[in-house]
Amino acid sequence: MPTRSLFPTIIYDHKLPRAKARRLNADLLSDIYILKKIDREGRDWSKKNYVGGYTSYSSITDLHLRHSPFMELKTLIDKEVKAYLSSLELDLQKRKLVMTTCWVNVMPKLVHHSLHLHPFSCLSGTYYVHVPEGSGNLKFEDPRMGLFMAAPPRKQNPKKTNPYSVKIQPQAGQLIMWESWLRHEVTANRGTGQRVSVSFNYEWL
Ligand SMILES: [Fe+2]
Repeated sequence: MPTRSLFPTIIYDHKLPRAKARRLNADLLSDIYILKKIDREGRDWSKKNYVGGYTSYSSITDLHLRHSPFMELKTLIDKEVKAYLSSLELDLQKRKLVMTTCWVNVMPKLVHHSLHLHPFSCLSGTYYVHVPEGSGNLKFEDPRMGLFMAAPPRKQNPKKTNPYSVKIQPQAGQLIMWESWLRHEVTANRGTGQRVSVSFNYEWL
C-alpha cells in the first residue's frame, strides 16, 4: 500500500544482564524498604496522593546522589541515555542532559498511578526492581490524542502502529525511558505482591 509512517514516538527499552540485575536489585530493594521505614514525610504524602502505596517523589528525590546502589544505577542509566539520545537525534548544543531527580515507588495490590507527564524534564524513565506476576503495566498514550477532532474511532484491535495506547509489561531488570512530554500511566496492580521501581528525570542544563 502506498503509505508512509511519519513521526514515530521512540521509547527506549533495555534489559540489564540478568546476573548484574539480580545483584543490583537486591541492593536497591533493601535500601528502598529502609527508606520507606524512615521517610515519614513521604509516607504521609503518599497517603493522600499515592493511595495504598509509597513513593518518595515528594520527599527524597536525590537518591542518585546519596546511596551507592542508586549511584551505580545512575551510571548505568547515563550510558543508556547516550544511546537513546543518538536515536532521538537531539542536539544538546553544548549543554548536557543531567539526572536531576530519582525516587522510588512501592505499589502493593490494587495501587495504580493515573495518566500524567513529567513537566520541565527532557527524558524520564523507570527501572524495575521487583515485578511480581500481574502487578500492572506501563501504558503510553498516543501523543496526538488531543488532535484527532472529527476523526472516526479506530477499529478494535488495530495493527501494532495504530493503537490509542500501548501497554508494556515490565520485568525486573528492565529500564524503560521516554521523552518527558509523553503521557503515561501505571495500571492497577492486580497481583498479590508489591511492585517496586525507581523513577527518574533528566533535564537539559
Ligand atoms: Fe511518570
